Amino acid sequence: MRSVQPLRRRGLGAVVAAMLGLMAPFVMESQTPAPPPPAILLGTAWYPEQWPESRWDADLALMQQAGVRMVRVGEFAWSRMEPAEGRYDLDWLDRAIRAAARRGIYTVLGTPTPAPPAWLTQKYPETLRMDKDGRLAEHGNRQQFNFANPKYRELARAIAEQMARRFGRDPWVLGWQIDNEYDEESYDPATKAQFQQWLKARYGTLDNLNARWTTAYWSETFFDWSQIPIQTGYGNPGLLLSWKRFVSDTWRSYQKNQLEVLRANSDPKKFITTNMMGWFDGYDHYTVSQDLDLAAWDDYVGQGHLDPARNGAAHDLTRGFKRKNFWVMETQPGSVNWASINNSLNKGEVRAMAWHAVGHGADTVSYWQWRSAMNGQEQYHGTLVGADGTPVPLYAEVQQLGAEFAKAGPALAGTSVHSEVAILHSYDSRWAIEWQRHNGEYNPVAELVSYYKPLRAISQSLDIIPPTAPLSQYKLVVAPGLNVLSDAAARNLIEYVRQGGHLVLGQRSAMKDDDNSLQPARQPGPLAELLGGRVEQYYALVDAVPVEGKFGAGQARLWAELLSANDSKTEVLETYGASNGWLDGQPAAITRQVGKGRITYIGAWLDDAGMANAAKWMTDVSGVKPAFGTVPDGVEVDPRYGDHGTVFILVNFSKAEQTISLPSALEDVLEGGAKQSVTLPVYGVAVLQTPRRAAVHPGTHSLLLGH
Ligand code: GLA
Repeated sequence: MRSVQPLRRRGLGAVVAAMLGLMAPFVMESQTPAPPPPAILLGTAWYPEQWPESRWDADLALMQQAGVRMVRVGEFAWSRMEPAEGRYDLDWLDRAIRAAARRGIYTVLGTPTPAPPAWLTQKYPETLRMDKDGRLAEHGNRQQFNFANPKYRELARAIAEQMARRFGRDPWVLGWQIDNEYDEESYDPATKAQFQQWLKARYGTLDNLNARWTTAYWSETFFDWSQIPIQTGYGNPGLLLSWKRFVSDTWRSYQKNQLEVLRANSDPKKFITTNMMGWFDGYDHYTVSQDLDLAAWDDYVGQGHLDPARNGAAHDLTRGFKRKNFWVMETQPGSVNWASINNSLNKGEVRAMAWHAVGHGADTVSYWQWRSAMNGQEQYHGTLVGADGTPVPLYAEVQQLGAEFAKAGPALAGTSVHSEVAILHSYDSRWAIEWQRHNGEYNPVAELVSYYKPLRAISQSLDIIPPTAPLSQYKLVVAPGLNVLSDAAARNLIEYVRQGGHLVLGQRSAMKDDDNSLQPARQPGPLAELLGGRVEQYYALVDAVPVEGKFGAGQARLWAELLSANDSKTEVLETYGASNGWLDGQPAAITRQVGKGRITYIGAWLDDAGMANAAKWMTDVSGVKPAFGTVPDGVEVDPRYGDHGTVFILVNFSKAEQTISLPSALEDVLEGGAKQSVTLPVYGVAVLQTPRRAAVHPGTHSLLLGH
């Protein structure tokens, strides 16, 4: 054991931190039990293997001064950890963890499997992935491995186990990130054979598979499992969907292979996660998240500026993977290096983006990366210090954030997001639409966001969850583009409506079954009876079509479904105007009350004004109340609820200063004092806390605020 280092030997950085009141954990020896980490963590990706050890403390001191309390380390350092097969060197990593701990900084360890060493792929070339044209990947970029290869898994498990044995009980290690951004599939013959076995396990017999995929079409009939190809973009829809499900299961088992040894050798308090990628749809994230303790994602804007609706929805999507708070494991310090134009976020935007993340349930915001490697593929990416090792202009903004996270941590501790409204999201449906868009501009994520934006603005809190999730807590459940509807999801939705919920189906809903076959009944298939109506025909639109009714007068674009009502209780909400003749005067949206519940179908992609009115109607009919109250356009409200009160995070994304009058006196967590109103500059943030220390949950919080 090292002896406890006295404060005076820790240099200027420690003294500065002490003056900031952040010193308590730093006087502790790094290998003694660590104090509990703060509720909201500021972090950064740090690559000690790229630097001489003599530089480490200078970087860590600058991190400490910025209020960074977590470094993620190790995820690309395999060749340093295992320079030759079976020869492990983790001493340097131990020293890096200790060095960070001496600065009061916790570590998240990444397993290094996205970047295998050259000796590994040279000796075992079968561990390299194969692209669609049959070419093997080569060393020199990352993600060259084959995710299904048993030898690769054996070696990956061995290095993960070495790390877990060494650091699994380290008090300064908070948890594990397995690999990094799962992405690349492999199309090699051995993986294809695994896919065929997977199909055999799922379908049992070829007769069953042939029937469910309708392989009589184009003489696609399979007589032997070995005849089934891998198809990814154009192919039998049943085969396409099965391949993506196989890929999802393969990533899950790839992850489980490491997860098992991490869990077996770690203190159970250490979380296991991986860093996902927002809207990325390479695999089903619900499948892969099942075995994780925590969901995390890498939040990059790329070109342009933060779109609070699309980005907020991606936060809510990630929160929905485990249905609890999540981490932003990576985000851009200003700019990226991979967009067409790598513009910087504006001054203040990085801080606003971080608070926006916390508002949506992030408990950590971590910047990628601290400092650029002197060479390597990402030299131009945004960092917090320059190549010279001194702060870049953004450092001060992140330092402010560090101080604010420390200040707001106690108020936010134990708080989480709860909503009265849920949007249903399904990878099966997104894939099915992507493979057959039918209108080239039909983007299923844009469709989801078109519903999300006005619904989030009204409700001020919204969950995004899969269609088989429990729904009874929601007053309103909206399913934009739930194209593939499994029998289990159909039962869940019918039960929800029968129990008094309001289900809104968006255009293209319930067209396909679980095999990506057409439903034998017209849309919305198994839900048509409940709806008392159906889709007579769908039309891809070149020109916008006028619509009018309960949602006002507006336009439908891209997509229009001609609806019909066949029950006297089914009400027509919107009607098409003059168009292609078929649609003229026909229903565009219908609704039917079912006991205390309700089911609605919207068949057209409405313009923004129409969507806003539709959202108003849906929330009014369902009794959804805003979580906070009226705010000026462009100001986002994010509530987090805890047993001792509610914290509201307000962020001004509008182009002008805004004054927000509060529904009741709230305590200003960052500035102090009770406030009746707050004035926020552009990108300004307020963190406000209810004064009462009573438990607050949706449905009761508005009473607490007196409205
Ligand atoms: C991803 C990766 C990082 C880095 C960043 C750059 O998120 O996980 O290693 O390449 O992109 O934006």
